Amino acid sequence: MCIRDRTNDELAAQVDTSDEWIVQRTGIRKRHFAGKDEKTSDLAIHAARAALESAGLRGTDIDLIVLATATPDQTFPATATRVQAALGMENGIAFDVQAVCSGFIYALAVADNFVRVGQAKNALVIGAETFSRILDWEDRTTSVLFGDGAGAVVLSAEAGEGTSADHGVLTTHLHSDGRHHDLLYVDGGVSSTRTVGHVRMAGREVFKHAVVRLAEVVDEALEATGLDAADIDWLVPHQANKRIIDAMAKKLDLDIARVVMTVDQHANTSAASVPLALDVAVRDGRIRPGHLVLMEAMGGGFTWASALVRW
Ligand code: UT7
Repeated sequence: MCIRDRTNDELAAQVDTSDEWIVQRTGIRKRHFAGKDEKTSDLAIHAARAALESAGLRGTDIDLIVLATATPDQTFPATATRVQAALGMENGIAFDVQAVCSGFIYALAVADNFVRVGQAKNALVIGAETFSRILDWEDRTTSVLFGDGAGAVVLSAEAGEGTSADHGVLTTHLHSDGRHHDLLYVDGGVSSTRTVGHVRMAGREVFKHAVVRLAEVVDEALEATGLDAADIDWLVPHQANKRIIDAMAKKLDLDIARVVMTVDQHANTSAASVPLALDVAVRDGRIRPGHLVLMEAMGGGFTWASALVRW
């Protein structure tokens, strides 16, 4: 892959900003940008292959791909179908889900429900984005915040006891409220401007909503399972801003050492942020089988969501 690092100082040579401002306000130190010819599907395929390898499965074992993205290769067909073809998967179904930064948890919930009703046995859930393609380099309030990336997990059907000791997805909670459309959006689109557009965000407003909504949706997940914040082994939050993540840890009275923080390395990668953080913590041995993992995210729409998973 020719995806490459871009530090805050490199951006500061291009935009009226500074490493100090970005680190203080967001915790971001660098981000990755896809190469000129690299598409969201290329990143997704890379992540999908890594997830299959970890699961000991082949593409032909997968019967469902749900890919979360707000930056698809093309308007249609779904980017997920590109991944399907690349994995040599001739059967099953593949489609995209669009919930911006909450996309991965939405996709996880969709796949989990397919598995629960018996419509899928092995599902690949992917979050993949090339946000660098929709950044306005004249706008310092948004351009320094985002990065490109992809992450993926495999969900497999397995009988459980129906208790919180089961492995896999224990509960998911999804919300949206379209009244906040104009606080975080892209100012272009197929049926409006016929262009791709750029990210626009009222950052301070989004920040306020995020802290409140994320706290609510995390409580919902704990209530639904009868678990307590003290039971959580790892909080894997959407990586938009270190200050939002710190606020969530404080709200849950969770030691910051139990929070997976990758915003410094990846910046905000939208639907890819939660699976990328998961990948880092699984590979470095922090998240281990049996651990209780709480994921949460919030994004444009607004959308917000949580998932409790027993690894
Ligand atoms: O992923 C979807 C969810 N998204 C989020 O959760 C993002 C939520 N919002 C945030 O993370 C924060 O609101 C931001 C990081 C976007 C902004 O931080 P802030 O502390 O809310 O800053 P602000 O927007 O209130 O701006 C403070 C100052 C302003 O200057 P004045 O008006 O105080 O003179 C901005 O013009 O910082 C200025 N500023 C910058 N300065 C240097 C804004 N962007 C930059 C920049 N470099 N890149």
